[in-house]
Order: sequence, then C-alpha cells, then structure tokens
Amino acid sequence: MNANNLNMRDRNILIKKGRIYTPEEGISSERDVLIQEGIIRRIDKGIKPGKAYVLDAQDCIISPGFVDMHVHFREPGMEYKEDIGSGSCAAVSGGYVAVFCMPNTDPPIDNASVAEYVYDRGVDEGLCMVLPHGAITQGRIGKALAPMGEMGSCRAMVRGFSDDGSTVTDSEIMRRAMEYAKTMDSLIISHCEDVSLNAGGQMNEGFYSTLLGLRGIPPEAEEIGVFRDICLAEKTDAELHVAHVSTAKTVKLLREAKKRGLKVTCEATPHHFTLDDSYLVSYDTNLKVNPPLRSRADVEAILAGLSDGTIDVISTDHAPHALHEKETEFDRAEFGMVGLETCLALVVTVLVENGVFSLEQALEKMTLAPSRIMRLERFGYKPEITEGTPANITVFNSDLEWVVDPLRFRSRSKNSPFGGWKVKGKVIHTIFNGSIVLEDMQVSPAGD
Ligand code: DOR
Repeated sequence: MNANNLNMRDRNILIKKGRIYTPEEGISSERDVLIQEGIIRRIDKGIKPGKAYVLDAQDCIISPGFVDMHVHFREPGMEYKEDIGSGSCAAVSGGYVAVFCMPNTDPPIDNASVAEYVYDRGVDEGLCMVLPHGAITQGRIGKALAPMGEMGSCRAMVRGFSDDGSTVTDSEIMRRAMEYAKTMDSLIISHCEDVSLNAGGQMNEGFYSTLLGLRGIPPEAEEIGVFRDICLAEKTDAELHVAHVSTAKTVKLLREAKKRGLKVTCEATPHHFTLDDSYLVSYDTNLKVNPPLRSRADVEAILAGLSDGTIDVISTDHAPHALHEKETEFDRAEFGMVGLETCLALVVTVLVENGVFSLEQALEKMTLAPSRIMRLERFGYKPEITEGTPANITVFNSDLEWVVDPLRFRSRSKNSPFGGWKVKGKVIHTIFNGSIVLEDMQVSPAGD
C-alpha cells in the first residue's frame, strides 16, 4: 500500500446521485454514499459534502466492486505480456476490486513462496486485491500433487487450485487433489480438456474449421473432461468449479450435476457468450482462445445457462499476449485474449440489451457469486453497499456508448478482437478499500 493510498483512505468521499445495486434489493432510486476512513458510513438522499471529496455518479449505478475469478497476470516470469502493476491498472479500469490469478506463471504458483510473492506484489501496487490460485500439481505437469496445504495456510490464503491451461490428465491424481481439497475447505477449478482429442487443434471442430483448413478441437474434448470431473466430485464430495464453459453439452452436464445437489459451480467468459466460430473467417489470431469459440448453438446454450442460473459466474480469462505472439501464422499464435477492460461493456451490450437477463442478474455473477465461491469475506470484501461495510465500489454508466480501442487499454497487451466494436456500458470510478483507484475513467495517480 503506497503513501498516497493511505492519504486517500483518510479522505472522506461522497459519491453523489447514483443508483445503488445490492444483490438483495436490486437497483434503488438516486442516493448519495458517504465513505469515511474506508467504511461506508451513510447512504441517503441529498447528503451535504462538507469536507468530503465528491465523486459524481449522475446517471450511474453504484455496485459492489467487481470480482474476477480467472485472470492471467503473467508475473512472475512473463512480465513483457503483463505484470501485476499493469494487470491491476487494467482491472480497476474494468471496475474490478479483486482478481484471482491463474498459476501458469514461470515459475508456476505451485508453492507458498510464489503464492505470497503474487499476493504481496498486489498489496504493493495497492489498486485492487490480487489473489493467487495455486497449482494442483507440482510444476503444473500433472505428476505429483503440489503442497496445497502450505499454499492454503500461507499469507495468500489460497482457496482455489487449478492447473489452468493444462488438464490434470491422471484421474487418480485428480481424485486425490479433490479428496485433499475437501479436507481443507478448498476448491478445485478445472480446465477440462481431454488433450488427446485436441492435439494441434486451432479452433472449434466443425463447418468453419473445415472451411478455413484449420485443425479442429472437438467439443467432446471439453465434455469428456467435464464428465470425468463431475464423477470425481460426486465420489469425493469435493467442491468443483468448471472454468470457461464453452459447449452446449457442458452446460447440460453441469445443469444435471447441480440438480443432483453436487457442489459444482462454473463460469462463462464474455468471449464465449458473445462470439461464435464463424468470426474466425477473419483469421484474426486474437480470436484464438482455449477452449475455442464454438458454434452458434453452443453460444445459445451458454446464454440459456447464464439465464437459468446453471452458469454462476462471469469471468474474463484475461490472457494477455504480446504483439509478436499474435501477429503470426494462425497455428503459431498463442491462445488467449485480454478481457478485463471490455467485460462490463459486453455484459451490457450482449446480455442486458438483448434481454438475456437483467443488469441485476449480470451484476450478481460479477460480484456476489464469485465472492461467495472464493470466500472473499476472508479478505474483508462484502458484496454489499450498506452502512458499516468496507468501501469496495464500482460506479458505472450502463448507457454510455463507446468504441473499443485496444491501444487505450491499461493492460500491457492489446490482444482483443473487439477493437472497433461500438458497445454500451463504461466503468467511471472504482473505489478499493476506501481509496479512489479509478476516477473519471482514469487510473488514479494514487496507485500509478
Ligand atoms: O486461451 C487461453 N489462454 N486459455 C487458457 O487456458 C490459458 C490462457 C493463457 O494463459 O494464455
């Protein structure tokens, strides 16, 4: 936490004339929110500013700060793509007050010292909570369990374990990981993929892969993985979170698993609910992601899963890559796209404007659901705008139209396929732990 941030925390802040979203009550009429010493002290109409610093929230929603369960900040090891400083700037620009970093760094987050390093770097940057997920296996190579207990009890209090980007192919090791996770109240986050089915695959297997002459990744590669992990979660009674759901059958499997009462949750990304594989005719390597963009029928199933509650969480899978890793032949390009700075806009433009569900339902999947799954109250975050609650707040305008320009992203990487898209919904201010970290769409110098 730097000195400027401490000054900000001492400062009283008055958010004027916004409509407040709370998971219990939905969106209120116009209110002011007074923050003193980092705590929300008063919510009322017409609060006099006195000496408080005023943030204008006219025409805006005041929401609990957004939480992203799935980002790649690349530190340690690949800071040329993103580091915890640039990633934190991207996060608060997108309205996030807490992000969970996947462990596919170099070295991987597979022990307490790397987990604490990531956690401490986030604290040093002071813009948002940067919390690590730990690897399930040592080196993320699927051979032997990582010291999960040590990571769970270290300063970073790791709760989510994942070999993200690599599936734990050995079912016996996955079973042991789940049994172990259950004893320590942890969560297995599974990147579900039968790798034998997707070797060399570049995009979804189907009409467009044949048309474009690119090797396909069949939907079954994901579904077989999901089915196995649901079976193991049922056997072990462990908590399982399925990352980046991409196919219709995955949604169906998860819906059935939830009906049977299993402790299963899942997430969808903005790119998987927005784009289908027909976009790949552009050969834009920014569209190359894993799991791949699927068919329109799969996108429709994801929208249905979001709407009926099968899909609990919206996560970005923010995956920064440098220009030279994307401006290359399709089969050489890295998988992944950045997402923190476009998520809210895609949620509003694709989900809310098209009537898939209400803004309130969308916000629940970006605040309450991820914070509940990750037990964020351990870090002092409550998905509430109520008197007495620490101020972790996102103020956004859901009507503001803008055109996406990746060159203006705060992320170090610009690998987004949404450049030039006209979208609706923009984060205006972000308050983290009582400090203004984004003001009028500018990252506050307090944290820069
Ligand atoms: O597209 C992806 N990019 N999928 C993953 O699973 C990993 C991620 C990355 O780390 O770049």
